[in-house]
Amino acid sequence: MRVLVAGGAGYIGSHTIVELYKSGHRVVCVDNLYNSKHKVIKNVEEIVKAKIPFYKIDCCDKKKLESVFKKEKIDAVIMFQGYKAVGESVKIPIKYYRNNIDSALTIIELMDKYDVHNIMFSSSATVYGKSAKSPIKETYDALELNEITNPYGETKAMIEKILMDKTIADSKFKAVILRYFNPVGAHESGLIGEDPNGIPNNLMPYIAKVATGKLPYLNVFGNDYKTKDGTGVRDYIHVVDLARGHVAALKCYNKKQNLYVYNLGTGKGTSVLDLVNAYEKANDKKINYKIVGRRAGDIDKLYCNPTKANNELKWKAKLDIVNMCKTSYKFETKGGLGCQEKKQKKK
Ligand code: UFG
Repeated sequence: MRVLVAGGAGYIGSHTIVELYKSGHRVVCVDNLYNSKHKVIKNVEEIVKAKIPFYKIDCCDKKKLESVFKKEKIDAVIMFQGYKAVGESVKIPIKYYRNNIDSALTIIELMDKYDVHNIMFSSSATVYGKSAKSPIKETYDALELNEITNPYGETKAMIEKILMDKTIADSKFKAVILRYFNPVGAHESGLIGEDPNGIPNNLMPYIAKVATGKLPYLNVFGNDYKTKDGTGVRDYIHVVDLARGHVAALKCYNKKQNLYVYNLGTGKGTSVLDLVNAYEKANDKKINYKIVGRRAGDIDKLYCNPTKANNELKWKAKLDIVNMCKTSYKFETKGGLGCQEKKQKKK
C-alpha cells in the first residue's frame, strides 16, 4: 500500500514509517515540524535506505494538503499529526481543539474528494477515562461516562466519534482506531527516538536524561497508590512493537467491517520503580530519584487487555523492558536529534 503518514516526523510516526517500509509498503510523509525536526526524516531514510517523499505542510492547511492528494497516489492515511501533551492541553485547550480536530477533519474531507477510503487513527488509552479498571478491554465505553480528564484526551475521543459517525454514513470508508498505552524505547539504530523539547513530561524520557546526567534526579510522583510498591503502574510498550501494530492493522482494509478498534499494549503492568530498576540494570547506570507528591490527574493503574489485537491482527508486543531501556539510553547517548544537528553544524 502507499500510505500518507500525517505527522510522520514525530516519535511514533517515524518508527511506523520504518516498519511500513520494512514490510514492503511505501510512504508519503507530511509534517509541519512543529514538534519535530527534518533531521528525523533524514535518519529514517538512513535506516530504510530509501528516499521518503516529504512535505513540510500543516494538515490544517487544506490548500497545501490538497496539493499532496493531487500529486501522490494514496491508498490509506495514518493520522499522527495531533498535539499530544496532557499538561499543555490544559493550559492551551483551544490550540489543541483547533489543531487536532481541524487537521483530522481536513484530512477526512480531502480523502473524500480524492477517493481515499482507508484511515488509521493514533488514539490513546486516555479515552478510557479515570475509573476504568485494568486490564481494560476495547468494549469499556468511557465516552458515555464523560470521564476524560483533559483537552488532549477529549480531542482523541472526539476524533474517534467523528470516525465512527463517518463509517456509519459511508459504507466505503474504513477506519481503524488504535488506542496506545505508554510507548517507550527507540529504534535499535539509535537514530530515531523520543526527543521532547525542554524538560520531559513522561517517565521514560525523563529517566533517560537522569541516566545521562542532563537532569539530577527523577521525581517519582507518589508512592501511596494502591499498587505493589505504591508507585503508578502503566503498560509500557516498545515503540517498534507499536509501529508494527500499525502495519498489522492495515489488513483490516481487506475485511468486511468498516470500523475496527484495538488496544495496543503488552497487557503487563510495570510500576515507576520497576522501570527505574530495569533501566539501572539494562544500562548499568544509577538513576537517582526522590519521592514527591502525586501529579494531578494521575491514576494508580492503567494497563490493557491486548487479546483482540493479538487474535484479530495476529500481532503481539514482543520486545521486552530490557530492550525498551537499552534503546532509550542508546538514543539519548547518541545525543538526541537536536544535539546531532548542533554537532553537524559545528563541522
Ligand atoms: N511519572 C513520575 N515521574 C515523572 C513522570 C512520570 O513518577 O517525571 C509517573 C507518573 O506519575 C505515572 C507514570 O510515571 O505513574 C507514567 O507517566 P507518564 O507521564 O510517562 O505517562 P502517563 O501514563 O501519565 O500518560 C501517557 C501519555 C498520555 C496518554 C496516557 C494514556 O503521556 O499521552 O499515557 O495512557 F494519554
